[in-house]
Amino acid sequence: MRNQRILVTGGTGMTGRRVSHQLAERGVDVRVGSRSGTPPFEWHDPAAWDAVLDGVDGVYLCFHPDLAFPGAAEAVSAFAARAAEHGVTRMALLSGRGEDGAERAEEAVRAVFADLTVLRCSMFAQNFSEHILVDGVRAGTVALPVPDVPEPFVDLADVAEIAVRALTEDGHAGRLYELTGPSALTFAEACALMGEAAGHPVAYLPVTPADFVAEAGRAGIPPEVATGLTELFAEILDGRNAKPTDGVRQALGRPAGDFAGYVARAAAEGAWS
Ligand SMILES: NC(=O)c1ccc[n+]([C@@H]2O[C@H](COP(=O)([O-])OP(=O)(O)OC[C@H]3O[C@@H](n4cnc5c(N)ncnc54)[C@H](OP(=O)(O)O)[C@@H]3O)[C@@H](O)[C@H]2O)c1
Repeated sequence: MRNQRILVTGGTGMTGRRVSHQLAERGVDVRVGSRSGTPPFEWHDPAAWDAVLDGVDGVYLCFHPDLAFPGAAEAVSAFAARAAEHGVTRMALLSGRGEDGAERAEEAVRAVFADLTVLRCSMFAQNFSEHILVDGVRAGTVALPVPDVPEPFVDLADVAEIAVRALTEDGHAGRLYELTGPSALTFAEACALMGEAAGHPVAYLPVTPADFVAEAGRAGIPPEVATGLTELFAEILDGRNAKPTDGVRQALGRPAGDFAGYVARAAAEGAWS
């Protein structure tokens, strides 16, 4: 019997890299779905999807740039329907907590793939070390267009492990997991912890949406993406997501990794040095 083959869309990104790595460790035949993959995968080129889905048993669905953005629900649900036609039996969708657009996308995918597992995540801790906020931590100021609200940042090690289990084990079909860290920290508290580990002070600075878009542009983020993120942050970072969930425990039977553990690992890996 051939090995199970799983397509990891966004397979070179923050979550997809981890999912691909853990699947490969389990002996799964991993196909990385990205524009640089073989065959290449492009969300905006449905004509090329069949080649990517050929012989695939399971799919990790990770949309770029964001599941809450306009057009995302249509793209992911069309792709999920195509995957079902190809005989895919397991699917895990990466989603965002407290986002109306992301919930619409979840519903659209579930309508064509009832056994979907949804990983509805709070803000990723790794945004501070691998993504949009890493330069700010290195420079000593994390600037976002939101007040200093509490957020239970989720560790991507947990998210990836849950995705891998959902794609390789029984018992996760049709489930919705709300995934957060074990407790909420404000951005200023998170910055203080990272500053201690990095060996230099890190402050939190609420900025205007225009200043955020301008700064993101200097970091190479297209204005339409930065503007979309500004709107998304205003929606989700208003305190609505402050309460932690036990979603990681539901899925893995153990507590979620905390922010201090993430900070220690990121610092040891040299993220901010
Ligand atoms: N950041 C957060 O705090 C947070 C919280 C909750 C949910 N989310 C969700 O997380 C998702 C992003 O996941 P991530 O952070 O793991 O990804 P990421 O690090 O932003 O990486 C994006 C991935 O998508 C691929 N990609 C980019 N453009 C593409 C295109 N046009 N067609 C096909 N593939 C493309 C990239 O590879 P190539 O460049 O090689 O194509 C890369 O593998 C979003 O849907 C967002 O809603 C994020």
